[in-house]
Amino acid sequence: MNKKAFIFDLDGVIVDTAKYHYLAWKNLANDLGFEFTEKQNEQLKGVSRVKSLEILLKIGSIELSENKKQELLAEKNKEYLEYVNTMTSNEILPGINQLLNYLEEKNIKFALGSASKNAPLILEKVGLFDKFTAIVDGNDVSKAKPDPEVFLIAAKKLNKNSNNCIVIEDALAGIQAANIAGMISVAIGDKKILHEADFVLNNTNELTIDFVKKLIK
Ligand code: BG6
Ligand code: MG
Repeated sequence: MNKKAFIFDLDGVIVDTAKYHYLAWKNLANDLGFEFTEKQNEQLKGVSRVKSLEILLKIGSIELSENKKQELLAEKNKEYLEYVNTMTSNEILPGINQLLNYLEEKNIKFALGSASKNAPLILEKVGLFDKFTAIVDGNDVSKAKPDPEVFLIAAKKLNKNSNNCIVIEDALAGIQAANIAGMISVAIGDKKILHEADFVLNNTNELTIDFVKKLIK
């Protein structure tokens, strides 16, 4: 058994659900009467559903009652789930299957560390639910990323010390959470946004076996 273990974020790392989150939030913003750009959407990546709505309403300068907010959260998730329900294994991001198979083969454990309450459903849809040693998601945590709670729980379930955990993330909040936890952080995406990570890759194609070999040495 290798000393190191991996913790994967879900949205934007394992599957490209970030586009569905964006579409659902954008439609909600439009219904409320304002535009919501992809650039603004960066602020929502990795943060919880409730926090995402708060940020969205701030962008639109809108204040709403608690009841109305609950209604909008349910509405957003309903639309998001319509997209999720069409998902198949085709939506697993490039390089991920190969990487998970390699880790399995080498007996390197891996867990999920996601803010999403829909994580178990999404993993089922794409056929990866049974692969993970542990699944820690939005249903298990009380503090959202950049708080390290989700990754610390995952490390515990993997039975690994933080410094032996390698976190793969596409969100700034997630990279910050990994760094606070004292883990090795690998970012997928724009270097300008994610420069706080120990390593930044342009996309999941760059999660090659050679790169992983270097990480686990
Ligand atoms: C994160 C996404 O993984 O999960 C966020 O990056 C999202 O955009 C969060 O808001 C919560 O997801 P869900 O599925 O519980 O609404
Ligand atoms: Mg993500």
